[in-house]
Amino acid sequence: MIPGDGIGVEVIPEAVRILQAAIAHTERKTEREADFVNFDWGAERFLRDGTTLPAGAVEMFRSDFDAILFGAVGDPRVPSNRHAADILLGLRAKLDLYVNARPVELLDASLTPLRGRGEDDIRFIIFRENTEGLYAGVGGQFRRGDPEEIAVQEDVNTRRGVERIIRYAFAYARSRQLGKVLMSDKSNALTFGHELWQRVFAEVRREYPEIEARHLYIDTLVAELVRDPSQFRVIVTCNLFGDIASDLAAQLAGGLGIAPSGNIHAGKVSLFEPVHGSAPNIAGKGIANPMGAVLAAAMLCDHLDWSDLGDLLREAVRAAVRARQTTRDLGGTRSTREVSDWLLDYVVKAKL
Ligand code: NAI
Ligand code: MG
Repeated sequence: MIPGDGIGVEVIPEAVRILQAAIAHTERKTEREADFVNFDWGAERFLRDGTTLPAGAVEMFRSDFDAILFGAVGDPRVPSNRHAADILLGLRAKLDLYVNARPVELLDASLTPLRGRGEDDIRFIIFRENTEGLYAGVGGQFRRGDPEEIAVQEDVNTRRGVERIIRYAFAYARSRQLGKVLMSDKSNALTFGHELWQRVFAEVRREYPEIEARHLYIDTLVAELVRDPSQFRVIVTCNLFGDIASDLAAQLAGGLGIAPSGNIHAGKVSLFEPVHGSAPNIAGKGIANPMGAVLAAAMLCDHLDWSDLGDLLREAVRAAVRARQTTRDLGGTRSTREVSDWLLDYVVKAKL
């Protein structure tokens, strides 16, 4: 557990409390157990003694842990965001978590801004490439501050990087029998970098003949996501486009408070987190929605091959939304604690 900053320290302990109850509740049937270790990395610790991601942390996670449940990092007292870059971006890069998975599922028709859309219409997952692209940090500035200055940011696309994220999307669609994969790029304009995506996509799809493979340029994809999201099941795209499209997609199903994500490397220690940040504007008030964190914990269970547990947590959140046991961001009046008490109660009473 790395709760981090702001509402991270409010929602992660709640998610863990619910997860522990779920493990205990299913224990007799499965003999499952889990050890939880808390790490206090974040702004507070950074301001106190300069620690961000301690030396040896990555090796420790690789050898001793199966998964990380992460809150959020970001604090107004650290305007440079130095600690956040070291901790979160550091873990994503050093653990080589090349898949950023953002499932989007409308749990109740009341949560979508798209009129006339219901629960079965919005149910897809976006796989965003998480280690390269325009976020690789390659580039530079020339004559900074000068009227003639130049800023260059390079888009890095490696064959290995493109291939593994596209293959992950197809393998996911196959294992869950979802039937189709859509790849989105901007190869009409980015004729070098994204032309590589085109070629790799054409190659990999041949290994999955039973899966319908489709392509849309990113501008068309975002328009179609708003017009008719029911046409999508699995979407795979680059780092930048995935970042933007997944925030739009999250909003189709209730917004940041309820959106989970995974930073995944199949078979290796992976990191799961709510999509939202540290929300300093509501931190400490006890009103943060814990559902994003609980759904992130559900994804963590899937990663451990405990999908039955993941399903139980998702079912609890769905039931809470339908019973209007929600925080203000979803139109309810409950506090963080009241919502998580309700979820916990649902989990311990669930028939297995
Ligand atoms: P944010 O996600 O923290 O907040 C955006 C808006 O959504 C705010 O109005 C907030 O109150 C609301 N919100 C977010 N989560 C909520 C929840 N669980 N329940 C109810 N309302 C919720 O994004 P913002 O304001 O852009 O960033 C705040 C800080 O978080 C910054 O320091 C930023 O760098 C950091 N951040 C960290 C992320 C991470 O650790 N993965 C991701 C995004 C931002
Ligand atoms: Mg984003």
